[in-house]
Amino acid sequence: MQTQLFIAGTWRDGSGGETIAVTDPATGEHIADVASATPADATAACEAAHQAQLVWAAAPPRDRAEVLRRCWELMMANQQELAELIVREQGKPMADAKGEVAYAAEFFRWNSEEVARIRGTVGTAPSGANRMIVHHPPVGVVVIVTPWNFPAAMITRKLAPALAAGNGVVIKPPTETPLTALRVAEIMTEAGVPGGLVNVTVTNDPGAWFDAAVDHPATRMVSFTGSTAVGKKLLKRSADRVLKTVMELGGNAPFIVFEDADVDAAVAGALTAKMRHSAETCTAANRFYVHADVADEFTEKFAAAMAAVNVGNGFEQGSECGPLIHERQLDKVAALVDDAVGAGAEVVTGGHRLDVPGSFFAPTVLRNVSPDSPITREEIFGPVAPIITFTDTDEMIDQANATEMGLMGYVFTQDLAKGLAVSERIQAGLIGLNRGAASDPAAPFGGMKQSGLGREGSTEGIYEFCETQYIATNW
Ligand code: SIN
Repeated sequence: MQTQLFIAGTWRDGSGGETIAVTDPATGEHIADVASATPADATAACEAAHQAQLVWAAAPPRDRAEVLRRCWELMMANQQELAELIVREQGKPMADAKGEVAYAAEFFRWNSEEVARIRGTVGTAPSGANRMIVHHPPVGVVVIVTPWNFPAAMITRKLAPALAAGNGVVIKPPTETPLTALRVAEIMTEAGVPGGLVNVTVTNDPGAWFDAAVDHPATRMVSFTGSTAVGKKLLKRSADRVLKTVMELGGNAPFIVFEDADVDAAVAGALTAKMRHSAETCTAANRFYVHADVADEFTEKFAAAMAAVNVGNGFEQGSECGPLIHERQLDKVAALVDDAVGAGAEVVTGGHRLDVPGSFFAPTVLRNVSPDSPITREEIFGPVAPIITFTDTDEMIDQANATEMGLMGYVFTQDLAKGLAVSERIQAGLIGLNRGAASDPAAPFGGMKQSGLGREGSTEGIYEFCETQYIATNW
């Protein structure tokens, strides 16, 4: 298991000699001590990325594409081992972890296919005075900061398009799940990624690390996935150097079930939208708006499905929901539930911590939830589904949009025209229409409002890592 920093193509300890303990959230067991990067290490990583990027950007697109494709092949060849690391340090069930590795690897394959298709345009100025050539060079060095809920995929979703566009990168994985990131760096080296192009530095001093990374003159962009609160701080700091930013921030997804929905399909969709990856996704359904005509049927069936979810250590055969990442998250989820119940919500199933070692919470369904209670405004990041009954569509849409977040929404109805019309009115970057999941490396992922800036994935995702240059000329 690799536990050192990866800087300039070499494995080394942090220059301050400090380490970070990594624990298994299912057992509380100590797994490893990982080297912690100092600001000086961040500077060294940016310098290495800068030097390597100059060569990488000049390489033929086809060469870059082939290296990225090998990254996909090698990640898939190591799928089981990577999934085991993810389960160990993050806690999600093995099936989700294997799914995450395939999802993460796919960003390499998709971007390897897109490298040769980074397009520009040639036109004539309206006055006829000159030709207008527009092309898209890489930005330079990209600082990537990622969360613990997808230890592999949140890295590759940024890393693969950044490399495709010809950039060098410095990655700061979270202290909770650094081991997967370090292993991905090792695999990428084996796949032919040049030394120095990708640097991985975990740190217990993120503020000072970020200051040093942002202040390196070659750094031109910050790409972050995490909470809106942290995103705002990084945006402010990035503004000091007028850096380009892509921000994938928090969510508060409404899940809407109309009276004409196929209730069984809505229940299956709700289970996916709420519970995938142990309910720790920013796209997770956070508030359920269910029409009064189907509210009882939906609530009973959904509660039965939630009660049947197999909660346990991600390594256990058949585990469908692992622990929350740590005790702090468990406390937050428990407090939101207690608060909702105190305000009149009824627990249909769950509603409590599990009396076992590790940070487990019972899959929970609450009904009679007030549309204004904190549980409908905060991102829960846990296996809790608050249900709000509605009769008036306009009022429900106003409530669904009454949030500063706008990452994802879900709509269930058998009337496709109504579904599309309502989808267009939901202020969110992604909509699952009669589907409980939508993420795909070939589709744009990102939020409206305070859920973020920019998009990842799809063709759009590569251009985020490019500059635009216009050359006026005649020939
Ligand atoms: C996230 O929770 O940040 C990502 C979820 C996804 O890619 O589906």
